[in-house]
Order: sequence, then C-alpha cells, then structure tokens
Amino acid sequence: MLGKKLTNTSSIVFNTIRQQYRHIEINSIERAMGRRAANELLESMELNSRYIDTPLISVSDPSNASSWEWTTGLDIKPKYNIEELKKITGGALDAFELVEKDIGSLSGGIKELLGSDHPVLESCAKYFFDTDGGKKIRPTMVLAIAYALNSQGDKAAERILSNAEQEAAKGPTLAVDKTSSEQFRNKMFATPQQKRLAEITEMIHTASLFHDDVIDKATTRRNMSSVNQVFGNKLAILGGDFLLSRASVSLARLRNFEVVELISTVIEHLVKGEIMQMKPSSTGRTALEYYLRKNFYKTASLMGHSCLSAAVLGGYNEECKRACYLYGTYVGQAFQLIDDALDFEGSTQSLGKAPLADLKSGLATAPTIFAAEEYPKLLSLISRKFEIPGDVDEALALVQKSNGLKRCKDLAQVHAEKAIEAIEVLGPSLARDALVALACKVVTRNH
Ligand code: FPP
Ligand code: MG
Repeated sequence: MLGKKLTNTSSIVFNTIRQQYRHIEINSIERAMGRRAANELLESMELNSRYIDTPLISVSDPSNASSWEWTTGLDIKPKYNIEELKKITGGALDAFELVEKDIGSLSGGIKELLGSDHPVLESCAKYFFDTDGGKKIRPTMVLAIAYALNSQGDKAAERILSNAEQEAAKGPTLAVDKTSSEQFRNKMFATPQQKRLAEITEMIHTASLFHDDVIDKATTRRNMSSVNQVFGNKLAILGGDFLLSRASVSLARLRNFEVVELISTVIEHLVKGEIMQMKPSSTGRTALEYYLRKNFYKTASLMGHSCLSAAVLGGYNEECKRACYLYGTYVGQAFQLIDDALDFEGSTQSLGKAPLADLKSGLATAPTIFAAEEYPKLLSLISRKFEIPGDVDEALALVQKSNGLKRCKDLAQVHAEKAIEAIEVLGPSLARDALVALACKVVTRNH
C-alpha cells in the first residue's frame, strides 16, 4: 500500500518535472542513459534549482533596516573619557605590529593576482600596490581577527591546520603555506584562506577608491596623485573593474559559498552607499539615521563582512561569527565618523588628500548635521549644498563654533566601545587585546 502511494507520488513528481523541462529532449536522454538514470538526473536538477535563490548568509541581512540599529549611539554617551579608554587599551600589542609579517607580504601577494598581458591595465591596477601605501586597516582587521580566532582553545590551531591540509589534498586550492612554525607555535597565525581574504578585501576597497576618485574628481590619494589624475578617468574606472574582477576570481577560489555570498553582498553595499551619498540629505534625526545607514553601506559593511568571513573560513560557530561581524561593523562605523571629523580638522599632509572635501562636494556629514541643531542657519546651507561662494567657509565656521565635532567623535567612541564589548566574546589572547586596542586607535587617530 505504502509502496503504491510512493510510486504514485514519485510519478506525479516526475510528471511535473517532465513538464518543467519539456524543452529538453527527454526521450533522447532516456535513450542514452536509460529511463531510471534519466529520472534521477531530472530529479536532481529539480532539487538543485529549488535552492538557487536560497541565501546562505548566516548573519541576518543587515540591509533589512529592522535587523540593525541604525540609531545606535544617538541616545547614549561614551562609557569612558578618551584618556580612560586609552589607558584601558594601552598595554596591548598594536594590531599593525601583530600582523606585520603577513601584512608585509600583502601588496606583493596582490600584485601576483593582478598579472595581465595588458601592460597599461596592469600598471593602472597595481598603481597603489607598487608603493605599498594606505593604512591597510581592513586587511589588518581580517588578519588580527583570524589570529584571535585561531588562538582560542587548545585544539583550534590543530583543527584549522588539518582542515587546510584536507582542502589542499582535494585539488587545486590554496596550498598550505609556509606559516612560520614560530607563528604557529605561538598560535598567532592566519590560514592561507584567511590571508587571501585579507588581500581580496584590500583589492575590493582599492577598486572602490579608483571609482570614488573619479566621482569626486579627486587629485590626490594616499599622499600621491590619484589614479584618475595619472591614468585618466576611463582607465581609472576600467582599472577598478579589473581589480574587482580579479578579486572575484580569487574569492571564488576560496571555494566557500558562504564567503562568496557575503563578500559579493558587500560589493552591492558599496554601490548602494555611494548612491545614497549622492541623494540630497534631509535634516534632523532622519538625516542622522540616513547618514549612519549610508556609512554602514559605504564603510562598515566591508569591514563587518570581512571579519565575519574570516570566522566562516575557520569553521567557527555562530557565536564567534556574530562577534566578528559586530566588531567589524562597529569599528567600521567609528572609522567613518572619525574620517568625517578629520575632514574638518586635518591638513592635506596629515590626510594624504585635500581636507574639507565633504563640504566642497556638497555633503553634510555628522559634524555638520549635529551643528545644524545649534545653528539652524546651516540648514539652508545644507539644502543648497554649500554651492554659493562663501557657503563652505560659513559652514566651516559654524561647525567649529558648535559641538558638532565633539558629538561626532563621541558617537564614534560609542561604536568603538560596542566593538570592544562584541569581541570580548572570543577567548582571551594577545590578538584579542590588539583588536581592542585597534578599536581605540580608530577613534584616537589624527590621520
Ligand atoms: C570613499 O568615500 C569611498 C568609499 C568608501 C566607497 C566608494 C564606492 C563606490 C565608488 C562604488 C563602486 C564600488 C566598487 C567596488 C567598484 P569618500 O569619498 O567619503 O572618502 P575619501 O575622502 O577617502 O575619498
Ligand atoms: Mg572620495
């Protein structure tokens, strides 16, 4: 009886599938494979296609406004004053020093991924990597997160290495590299996949800067002429596309579907952030919410998802993954807030690019939005995008007179403190301490 029912069900399923794939020459498949094998083939096609649109992403999609608190920090003050925060994190190893060995080979590794038979395209894409410039905060975070994860517990390092060896044995994948025995013994290491992820992260970031400098008509970046200035707009865009495509190939070669999905989503977020920035901003609380959301897409998403991906590649549990995601996202938001404050306070020399770029391009960032609450005159300057001669100077003077810069930095500190709280979920280690210190450094930096 049961058998008959099953046969009936499977014949219904089969007929439905047949109907769906009627464009395929089923008879000829049956002739070649036999009826049973043909049925199995069709059923497996149906099964696979059913999952085609199912996301693998483990952390709930932050692009859904209900799952992320965009207004985080707007109603709270930092727990510590900045001197206390510096003292708390002061004794830790600097994250840039911690990962020095791996970061030292990053630009060289990226250049190897950018080899092309077109010399102009290649030299354009390699432009920033030839001089090894930039802060490299994104790959530093990925590597330090990897070290912190891999040093947890006695067995973590062994498990990671044996996973890497098993992967390597499966075929052409990233070879188990020469992670120095000293690094491994000290449990201060990233796997080859995690190191490649750090390179991919920096490539995607650099590609977005190539495009951004064209959009912003920038002439300097990282204390050098910008890529559009040297190669022209067309090559800067195409060079950025090339970087992005090589990053995508490397991403696919990590052979981890979840990480491919996470990092691909980041590329969408970068574009979304840039588009949000182009739209005129409103004022008041909604302007702040819009601004923080834009920062998430433009800056925090890449940092959060890269840190999360480091945990996914190491095979860590949901709790660790979430800690890494939150750490990266909060540090990212703090980083962007400080960038926006420094745009008012820095010089061309300290920033490596021209200051006041935001006001000059019509953008109202946190310091201006906060200042407008004290000086409503700013509202009209914001709505006409500081276009009339003298607007930029007037806005600058009002922001400087107001508490806007202080409130912006306090908001950054609240995010840094949240990042610190998040990463404390991981077991204690030198790398975890360095991550704590890095969150503090992000908000105390002056360049
Ligand atoms: C810098 O912003 C720009 C970004 C963080 C992202 C830019 C993203 C795009 C142009 C979308 C295209 C993305 C890809 C991956 C090709 P900023 O102008 O505020 O900072 P700046 O002062 O350093 O220029
Ligand atoms: Mg720019």
